[in-house]
Amino acid sequence: MSEMDRLTRRNFLSMTGMAAVAAVSPAALQAAGEANQWPAGFLWGVATAGHQVEGSNVNSDIWLLEHVKPTIFAESSGDACDQFQRYPEDIATLAKLGFNSYRFSLEWARIEPAQGEFLRAQLDHYRRVIACCREHGVAPVVTFNHATTPRWFAAQGGWENPQSPELFARYCERAAAHVGDLIAVASTLNEPNIGLLLKWLGLPPAITEQQAPMLRAAALACGSQQFSSALASDPAATLPQLLKAHRVGYAAIKSGPGKCPVGVNLAIIDDQAVGEDSQRDRKRAECYTPWLRAAAEASDYVGVQTYGRARIGKDGPMAPDSGVEVTQMGEEFYPEALENTVRYAAAETRKPVYVTENGIATQDDARRVAYITRAVAGLQRCIADGVDVRSYIHWSLLDNFEWLFGYRPKFGLIAVDRKTQLRTIKPSGRYLGDLARRNGSRQGAVSNRQQRFKS
Ligand code: BGC
Repeated sequence: MSEMDRLTRRNFLSMTGMAAVAAVSPAALQAAGEANQWPAGFLWGVATAGHQVEGSNVNSDIWLLEHVKPTIFAESSGDACDQFQRYPEDIATLAKLGFNSYRFSLEWARIEPAQGEFLRAQLDHYRRVIACCREHGVAPVVTFNHATTPRWFAAQGGWENPQSPELFARYCERAAAHVGDLIAVASTLNEPNIGLLLKWLGLPPAITEQQAPMLRAAALACGSQQFSSALASDPAATLPQLLKAHRVGYAAIKSGPGKCPVGVNLAIIDDQAVGEDSQRDRKRAECYTPWLRAAAEASDYVGVQTYGRARIGKDGPMAPDSGVEVTQMGEEFYPEALENTVRYAAAETRKPVYVTENGIATQDDARRVAYITRAVAGLQRCIADGVDVRSYIHWSLLDNFEWLFGYRPKFGLIAVDRKTQLRTIKPSGRYLGDLARRNGSRQGAVSNRQQRFKS
């Protein structure tokens, strides 16, 4: 594609984006608020994950992988959005925007930086974050593991290690004992099926060829023979341990104080069959079935995380048609995907669905507004048909560290200046916040500051 083509395309997209904003606000916004009947207690939220926003997660596996040579990571996560310190400001902002829930993760590598050594000060930190949500009437939706693990865990083989489920359960138990009473919704693992999906997606050779030498360099840095990370491992070798980790992690969180629902967050693409000999069902059987079964058997809900669709033909996934709008991640702009995956997950599990991630990487915020409008309309149709949907949690609160791709993709409702850490709310943040305010209610706030720390 020539630079001229790119410019033309960008102009075109931004024009269609502007048109979309004009078309949805404020009249459509009003209509969405009036016409719908969102269930009582519906959670309208925003999501982040520890490594992607907190900064200096130096004891984690991914931090090491960002810094060895060769690496598949475009850059270091560095200070990220410095949310480890700035969480009071971020939580106050999201509450003020109108959201009644905040999804974030506990960083295992901070809580247990050396095997068996649990740091109380770090657990206290997360208790403060959770209490801060409560003080703002915001429901804390807490993921116990979002991709990263402690470096020592990776150096023992990560999720390939047969002991990994027990190591994870012990961490879950300690963390839940400390903060479980204040959590509104918990989940064990974020997207444990991502490796299976990436296999179908087919990463570029520039990445796959670097993976083994990167892991060898990390093992060497740890004085170990092995190093395995959720974002760089053989999914077939990790699947049995991950499935078990979810089950024992679920039980460990349940054994703690508090009565919150506990589930698992699954990456689900809206896979659409093209042709009679499509491989769609084979993909579903590989990537989702084991996890939907786990959600059905050992979960209080299923967390659905959807960004777009994939059309699957007889040779597997097909590239988006030329000329269709794509996001910064190269995915087709297709907000209706969410409606389809929510229906699929609900039908397969017969469990309540929490949408725990949905979003778009784009520099053109007007397209984000259009995306949200259409995705939320799809959820309304699910609810009208009786599907038990309990949240719409958008990815992401902030422009943040997008793993291999570094800081280039922009998923945030709020922009972050990486030099000054100054936050700037985008129109999409106000748009979704308004929708949230008009259709959700505040969650039970903890007013007694003494609840911040357990005696
Ligand atoms: C992950 C997030 C990620 C987002 C956007 C999800 O797969 O849970 O960590 O940033 O998608 O790619």
